[in-house]
Amino acid sequence: MKKIFVTGALGQIGSELVMKLRDIYGYDNVIASDIRKTDSDVVHSGPFEMVDVTDSKAIFDIAKKYEVDTIMHLAALLSATAEKKPLLAWNLNMGGLINALEVARELKCQFFTPSSIGAFGPTTPKNNTPQDTIQRPTTMYGVNKVAGELLCDYYYEKFGVDTRGVRFPGLISYVAPPGGGTTDYAVEIYYEAIKSGKYTSYIAPDTYMDMMYMPDALKAIITLMEADSSRLKHRNAFNITAMSFEPEELAAAIRKHIPDFTIDYDVDPVRQAIAESWPNFIDATAAKEEWGFEADYDLVRMTKDMLEKLSQKLLSKEIQ
Ligand code: SER
Repeated sequence: MKKIFVTGALGQIGSELVMKLRDIYGYDNVIASDIRKTDSDVVHSGPFEMVDVTDSKAIFDIAKKYEVDTIMHLAALLSATAEKKPLLAWNLNMGGLINALEVARELKCQFFTPSSIGAFGPTTPKNNTPQDTIQRPTTMYGVNKVAGELLCDYYYEKFGVDTRGVRFPGLISYVAPPGGGTTDYAVEIYYEAIKSGKYTSYIAPDTYMDMMYMPDALKAIITLMEADSSRLKHRNAFNITAMSFEPEELAAAIRKHIPDFTIDYDVDPVRQAIAESWPNFIDATAAKEEWGFEADYDLVRMTKDMLEKLSQKLLSKEIQ
């Protein structure tokens, strides 16, 4: 990776990944792009281009202009939004992906795109979900993710594109909000804990899902992309996880720092059904064996860091 082109750079992952990549690979060597432009570090700290990923020529032109050797394709709609707008999700998630893969093929770029625990469905084994297992998701997002995993495998097998990817669990971060996902409750809860000391969860108690703190997600992307290709048997769609919890356990972890914090429930049937169709916890041994992935943050460590960093952020916003 010497010159990296990131799509969806203003999203939850991109906002932090771009800054980390710029630190490691040089500020001019990471070209950030998104369909919108904001007054943010990602836009101001290095090259930024407005790109709609459904426009294949736009992706090609930017990749060519900067002579990139790596594409990290992050632009996508998350699960709950995709359920509300399935046709838009198909066009953006699948159209964007094949456009980006085509550019990677033509310009011989290494390629990363995330899959998700959403690529599993109700008939997948729920506990210790294997790397290779039944994938019959019942959401548009899941359909997109499974098709995306297969498409990345296809571009590797057929055209030799060096595609790599992981199945991310719910990602928790304090920089940019996720927006439109089923696991977003686990981010919102921290904001509300600090702001009001209480949170109403749209996910019911006892609903377990895999989660990960953003520093581990960034580490996973970079480690996988730098991994020795000959060690990778799976290449795309590695199961990775850092922890699995349900809302009551998360609330209890927050209460260690904010003793009066309370949680109550107003369950959203759509997002609850999506959550119930996903695994309780997945098995990530293939990622460990093939490229040495191990998460640094568990629930306790993440909660401490998240509350500290988010409090600072919210405080500095108030002061401004
Ligand atoms: N966090 C995502 C979502 O909830 C899962 O990949 O949609």
